Amino acid sequence: MVKEELKLKEALIIEGGNKLKGVLEVSGAKNAALPNMAATLLTDEEVVIDNIPDLLDIETMKNLLNTIGVQINHIKDKAYSFKLNEVKSLKAPYELVSKMRASILVLGPMLAKFGYAEVSLPGGCSIGTRPVDLHLKALEKMGAEITIEHGYIKASAPKGLKGAHIFFDKITVTGTENIMMAATLAEGKTIIENAALEPEVVDLAVMLRKMGANIKGEGTHRIEIEGVKSLKGTYHSVIPDRIEAGTFAVLSALTGGNIVIKNYPSHYLEYVNEVLENIGIHIVKISENEVVVKRDDILKPVNIETREYPLFPTDLQAQFMTLLCFANGVSEITENIFENRFMHVPELNRLGADIDIKGKTAIIKPVKKFSGAHVKATDLRASAAMVIAGLVAEGETTIHSIYHLDRGYEHIDTKLKSIGAKIRREILENEDD
Ligand code: UD1
Repeated sequence: MVKEELKLKEALIIEGGNKLKGVLEVSGAKNAALPNMAATLLTDEEVVIDNIPDLLDIETMKNLLNTIGVQINHIKDKAYSFKLNEVKSLKAPYELVSKMRASILVLGPMLAKFGYAEVSLPGGCSIGTRPVDLHLKALEKMGAEITIEHGYIKASAPKGLKGAHIFFDKITVTGTENIMMAATLAEGKTIIENAALEPEVVDLAVMLRKMGANIKGEGTHRIEIEGVKSLKGTYHSVIPDRIEAGTFAVLSALTGGNIVIKNYPSHYLEYVNEVLENIGIHIVKISENEVVVKRDDILKPVNIETREYPLFPTDLQAQFMTLLCFANGVSEITENIFENRFMHVPELNRLGADIDIKGKTAIIKPVKKFSGAHVKATDLRASAAMVIAGLVAEGETTIHSIYHLDRGYEHIDTKLKSIGAKIRREILENEDD
């Protein structure tokens, strides 16, 4: 069987109920590393990016950049160099884009640098339709001609892109990143209104500025980019992953024991920390970049709404739902960013949770315990919720389809084993995923 087929059959088997003790280190942010890597298409010079996590999504982005003509070398530890050599292909093929929607991030840089790009339409995915219309509308406003043919976005700007005043109807993270990258090499000034504020957008702006881009306003809803003729090489280290950190905080609160979280980016998690406080979970700083999680004996219910940064991230919704199952009253979580992002609810209910869905709100009633069962990892973040649930549940939990987990959580089983979790991988022969 080829490696990819085996990956689809991999399951994680967790023996729950262990007290965990030790250090969990937060890796570099996947959602920052991906746009940072795509930005290396904008220069002919070498860019070194450090603190890149070892993940399937990162592999997909490396393969994509490689296909286009970027030579990637491992320097040491988490550092890689990226150098655009001879352009080999102006096409981001379906085989790669279908594995990871964030592949759309190559569209802006390719169009700006080469004047042409073909990117497979990302299509639907497990958490809703997730269109890319806002990316395309903005690029058209910058002078690109775009058609959709045979499932591919074909975009051309033979005379180069032109600065434009972009109003995003909806806040979009990768949309803001795509347009920011495209605008660095466009002629004249681009203004992005209603831009995303996420720390990963800011990290990209910081890296682009080091490459010679003229950007201001990142971290606000209005970003201004004055196009330049060319960009140069640089060194950049990716920011820590706030979603992995938040996942570790929940895991730590529910599994008791004594876990130190290293590289916990409190400054990106201010709202999340406040929600944790309201539940009765306290993030206590013990050194410059380490925290421990203390909890009250009784956890309080809360109502959460997912919103764009700096409010509650949709990417922590499933993990907090698991947590709130153990509060002493009824909680509600409303998902405002994505439709159909409650696929973990039936899976949590299989473990003993009592959650109902009413429209875009999940109503979480308290339960005393979870008991191990077979469950499915339905998307990337939902799979992290399953891992937390499995660690809390009595007995054995088998999580199927864990390739989702490997897309976004670096060496999760190794990290958890190092703090005493009983967790192993198995290839399940009868899996038909
Ligand atoms: C990014 C993150 C993802 C996170 C999400 C929301 C990366 C690689 N991924 O995804 O982990 O869950 O932000 O914080 O950074 N939309 C449109 N048209 C568009 C673009 C978006 O309607 O052209 C809608 C989406 O369907 C969604 C909302 O806008 O309802 C926000 O999506 P967006 O911020 O674009 O998410 P991503 O950038 O794909």
